[in-house]
Amino acid sequence: MATTDINTADTARDMQIIDGVVDVIASTAPEIRTGLPGRRVAAEDENPSGETQMAADVFADDLLCERIGALEGVGEYASEERPESVDVGTGRLSVAVDPLDGSSNLKPNNTMGTIFAVYEAPLPAHGRDLVAAGYVLYGPVMTMIVARNGTVDEYVIHDDASHELVREDVTLPDEGSVYGFGGRVPDWTDDFEAFAREVEQDPSRKLRYGGSMIGDVNQILTYGGIFAYPTLESAPEGKLRVQFEGYPIGYVIETAGGATSDGTKSLLDVDKDDLHARTPMYVGNTDLVAKLEAALD
Ligand code: F6P
Repeated sequence: MATTDINTADTARDMQIIDGVVDVIASTAPEIRTGLPGRRVAAEDENPSGETQMAADVFADDLLCERIGALEGVGEYASEERPESVDVGTGRLSVAVDPLDGSSNLKPNNTMGTIFAVYEAPLPAHGRDLVAAGYVLYGPVMTMIVARNGTVDEYVIHDDASHELVREDVTLPDEGSVYGFGGRVPDWTDDFEAFAREVEQDPSRKLRYGGSMIGDVNQILTYGGIFAYPTLESAPEGKLRVQFEGYPIGYVIETAGGATSDGTKSLLDVDKDDLHARTPMYVGNTDLVAKLEAALD
């Protein structure tokens, strides 16, 4: 077989595997959601980043590990809830998930998400190794965003575990109207605080922050604007994880025509070789992210 034939065959095969991962995420989401009511309590352990694990985090991780791990073509599975990645087969694609992003929102019954990233490389992989990424948002409606093949689509997930395409080729609106910034304000750097104050002064924008990254990022995808979990004085690398949050959200937002940054460069160019490494995250409309980078310079 000529090299181009092999590459085309690999790409077609990868697409099938990605579709399989998306199907597992969509069909498992209703089960994760139904399993939440009895699991709004702390589990016995902390996650590898030293945060309290909820019983729901462990439940969602176990379900996804078992089902994604059973897919032919997936070689490794990793999640924010386990210290090491797991070898699940001989496939050349790796899947990294945040099973329940924003699980501290479980107690107040606020939004949460499940994030997934498919890399064409062993874990920890690089942002440029991504071949697909997306998330489920557990809101009043269960929706799923999937970025693959250069486009972003939105689906509604039904209780019977089927999913239905509701919006093709999703892009950020040109005029961003919302913003949401994480971390305690006294812990922000002076440069970031000055930028935040400037954003606040624009009468066309309003604050929308819910404390779950997926909920907050989905508002940016819907209304345009900027979300940040910035560098903090007490945590120069911010809070969010590169493999499980930074890269996949970077991939979704950039595929949807927005921009992302760690303060100086695209989130997809962040270079960290620890599975649980963190990064500051700034995502939104390109003009706002450019202003942010200039303000932090
Ligand atoms: O990574 C988990 C997460 O819950 C994100 O979804 C969210 O943006 C962030 O942490 C909020 O953290 P905190 O409430 O500690 O600022």
